[in-house]
Amino acid sequence: MGKLDGRVVVITGAARGQGEQEARLFVAEGARVLLGDVLDDQGEALAKELGENARYVRLDVTREEDWTAAVAAAQEAFGRIDGLVNNAGILRFNELVSTSLEEFRRIVDVNQTGCFLGIRTVAPEIAAAGGGTIVNTASYTALTGMAGVGAYAATKHAVLGLTRVAAVELAARGIRVNALCPGAIDTPMSNPDGVDPEAVAGLYRKVVPLGRVGRPEEVAALALFLTSDDSSYVTGQPFVIDGGWLAGVALF
Ligand code: NAI
Repeated sequence: MGKLDGRVVVITGAARGQGEQEARLFVAEGARVLLGDVLDDQGEALAKELGENARYVRLDVTREEDWTAAVAAAQEAFGRIDGLVNNAGILRFNELVSTSLEEFRRIVDVNQTGCFLGIRTVAPEIAAAGGGTIVNTASYTALTGMAGVGAYAATKHAVLGLTRVAAVELAARGIRVNALCPGAIDTPMSNPDGVDPEAVAGLYRKVVPLGRVGRPEEVAALALFLTSDDSSYVTGQPFVIDGGWLAGVALF
């Protein structure tokens, strides 16, 4: 028996990275999954590989009409929606004083507005199915600062605000809302050139207590916990998954 038997979950940014691993794990645990992304070839190929319990749709999370179409596609394919993982996100490196307004707005659009649109569009469908879960993807930079990612960190702080308000507003409709706060996960976002984690192991040993970069499969396992009944009394919370990075500084 799978932990998500009978559940239908929409996952954004599901073509690669953490979203891909969430889609793989959720299907393995019995869910039917609608994968959304803007990387159509990768998304289509993954859905094909996952089989009849997966469908891919183009879902640019900044576009209201894409959200409406995605919900319609999930309803048509699977007949209900019980869960949403707002995973899509973008990262740009720039000091605040060098960040253009255009870049700042783009990051807000994808990371923050995309999350809002997902909650607004999908929550009524989840409520209509009798309740369920929303997992928003924040970051460890939702809880602390980091030089060079001001716009990104601002949006991830905002995702936590959205998570808390949504949890309070949607509890009466049977929907739990929580946030993932990953740090240092080996995906195309943090490692676009696909550098072997062993090659940068020295860096991680200095700053991450567990001494290594995280794997997207590990984040997927936390998303599964927050989407399944294992977390039935948990809502409105940030869940840090960062190898202990935020816990403190090791001087010796
Ligand atoms: P990734 O870059 O591998 O995956 C992100 C996915 O989002 C991609 O498939 C991309 O095409 C998609 N995407 C981008 N813009 C989109 C849009 N407008 N509409 C729909 N999809 C869009 O990165 P990763 O690491 O898997 O990131 C997943 C989430 O985890 C993001 O929200 C990211 O901010 C967050 N995160 C990642 C960390 C890391 O160390 N990798 C650390 C903290 C948070």
